[in-house]
Parts: sequence; C-alpha cells; structure tokens
Amino acid sequence: MNSLKALILAGGFATRLRPLSCTRPKMLFPVANKPLIDWTLESLSRCGVETVVMAVNYMAEAIARYLGPTKYNLGIIYSREERPLDTAGPIKRAEEHLRDGPFLVLNGDVISDVDYRELLNYHRRKGGLATITLIEVPDPSRYGAVELDGEGRILRFVEKPEPGRAPSNYINAGIYIFEPDVLDYIPAGRPVSTEREIFPKLAEEGLLYGYRASALWVDIGVPEDYLRANSLLLERIGGVQMGEDVEVDETAKLLPPTSIGKRVRIGGDSVIGPNTSIAEDVIIGRGCRIENSIIFPGAIIGDHSSIKNAIIGENATLERWVKVETGSLIGDYVTLCDGVTITGGVTICPSKRVEESILEPRRVM
Ligand code: GTP
Repeated sequence: MNSLKALILAGGFATRLRPLSCTRPKMLFPVANKPLIDWTLESLSRCGVETVVMAVNYMAEAIARYLGPTKYNLGIIYSREERPLDTAGPIKRAEEHLRDGPFLVLNGDVISDVDYRELLNYHRRKGGLATITLIEVPDPSRYGAVELDGEGRILRFVEKPEPGRAPSNYINAGIYIFEPDVLDYIPAGRPVSTEREIFPKLAEEGLLYGYRASALWVDIGVPEDYLRANSLLLERIGGVQMGEDVEVDETAKLLPPTSIGKRVRIGGDSVIGPNTSIAEDVIIGRGCRIENSIIFPGAIIGDHSSIKNAIIGENATLERWVKVETGSLIGDYVTLCDGVTITGGVTICPSKRVEESILEPRRVM
C-alpha cells in the first residue's frame, strides 16, 4: 500500500456556495470547526496513503498556503491548472505523478470514512480499469444512480432518475481507484468530465466496477448539504467541543453536539446547539439562540438574536433582536441591523448593510 497515491480534485468554483466561496475555496470551509480538506487528508493518512496530488485551480494559492508541502505525514504535490479542466482533465494534467500503479481519485467536496485499503483490494480482485465507490441513499433522484450486474460490473448510469425509476439506490460517491491506463482515455489540454465522458466509455467496455461501501458519506454541494455535513461530523465527535480561552457565562447553555472555537465569548441566558459550530473569535451576546448553524470566524451576534439552520460569514455582524432562519446564507462582513428577520433561503452578498427584513428567498447583491 506504500506507493498508493491519491489525487484530490480541489479546484472547483463552488458556485452553489456563493457568496461564501467568493472569498475562500470550498476546501477551506470549516466542518465541525476543521477545514474540509483536513478531514480528507486525515482519512488518507489513516489508510496508509503517503502522497497526495492536489489538483487545484480556483484559489489555488489559498489552499497551497494553508497546507504547505506536507501535513498528517502526507507529502503534498500541487498540480495547478491555467483554466478549469472539469473532473477528468485535472487527472490527465497530473499524469506524470500517476503512472506508477493504481491510484485513488477523490472529489474534494466529499467527507467519508470509506476504507481505501478495502477499496483497493476489491479493485484488484475484480481486475477492471477503474472502480467507483458506491453509496446507498434512500432517494437517488438528485444524484446519478448506477446499474450493476451480479459481478459488480457497472452496466450503465442513470442521471437524476425520476423517483421510483432508478435502477438501484447506489450512487457514485466520488471516490475511485484508477489504473494508469485510464489516463489514456482522457484527452489532454481541454476540460473533460469523468462522469459524462470517461465512465460511460469504460462501462461500455466492461472495465468499470462498483464497490458498495457502507460508510459515513456526505458531499458538500449546496448550503443544506453543508449544514448536514456539519451536523453529521459533530454527531460523530459527540459532546461539546471547546477551544482554548473560551468565555461562557454560567447562565448560558451549550447543547451537544456543538463545537466552540478558540476565544469565543457567549453571554448570559444564550442557548447554543445542538448541531452548531461556532468558529474562533466569535462574540455572542445575551439571550441568543443558535441551533443547526455554522458561524464563521469573527462574527458578532448581538443580544437576543436567533439563528436557525443558517450560515453566517466571517466578521458578519448581527445587531440586536435579529433573526436568521432556514437555509439563509449571510456573506462575510454583512451587517444585519436591529430587529431584522431573514428567512427561507435568502443569500446576502459580502459587506451589505441590511436594514429591513427579507421574508422571501432572494439574493441581495
Ligand atoms: P459548484 O460550482 O457549486 O457545482 O461546485 P464545484 O466547483 O465543487 O463543482 P462540482 O461539485 O461539480 O465538483 C466536484 C469536485 O471536482 C469538487 O471537489 C471540485 O473542487 C472539483 N472540480 C470541479 N471542477 C474542477 C476543475 O476544473 N479543476 C479541478 N482541479 N477540480 C475541479
């Protein structure tokens, strides 16, 4: 296993997480107060992977600056793109690092505890050119479902099947093993999609297998996924996680699972949690209620404000008696003035000052 390398697709624009992704790459979004990429690198290191190729494009330097050349005993190589190459193009571009044996490919926006060693063993037993990890979901209609034969060979893909029409409830988990020969299927120098161009061809040739994993799996695409990933990881950790130098008033309540970052201050009678991550340097006033939410570093939450199922950006300020609810996304440095209510999927772009309530889904530019 020593020589197994992993390529992580880490260059997407994360358009569905704007405006939070305008100022940071998705790989650095905190999940249970730890950047997404750290969850992935830790799981690779646990499974004995030694080298990671980070395929980067959008905000490449932010990722490289954060990770450096090594972390969790992994050597990290950066493969930079001049323009977006979709999901297969970046693998072709990193070809020089991937020719020495089967390698792992991971969608960077997935968190899972799939055992990569078992995946590799399965791949070797089946003898295909590529193996896709499959996860069973109750409703595959927002994903692509796969049809398999009795040997685990993938016969075809059905993108976004209508409810009840899926050939199985197994979906592509974004975690693959490729033989170096797969590189010959990817044209160089242009964007190529693994899912749309490469896998159908391999399936047609009978060279693609599916590995059914039952593991923790969550992908972060839209804000609801991000909140769900955060909750799942907090549940995994359990309890109330406290950073250093936190000051919590003795009349405040912290409901597990919850994670409180370094130097956070929480005022009297506030109730925080469950399923809530408060990043470092956040200040929360008196009588606040925060549940199922993610608060980025340095935000200020004024007295008697309440936040439910929402994401609050870095250094945002909620004045007093502010309410933010249900899938709303508040950009970095936004100010929500006294008494403002924001509900139902409202997105507010960075540095806006909002003085009136917004009760319908919309984007405030
Ligand atoms: P949306 O823009 O919101 O769809 O998000 P995304 O940019 O993450 O796109 P998508 O979910 O389709 O991407 C799946 C994975 O591939 C993510 O980990 C992306 O970072 C990565 N990815 C997508 N496009 C590129 C690319 O052009 N280059 C590289 N290196 N990675 C990419």
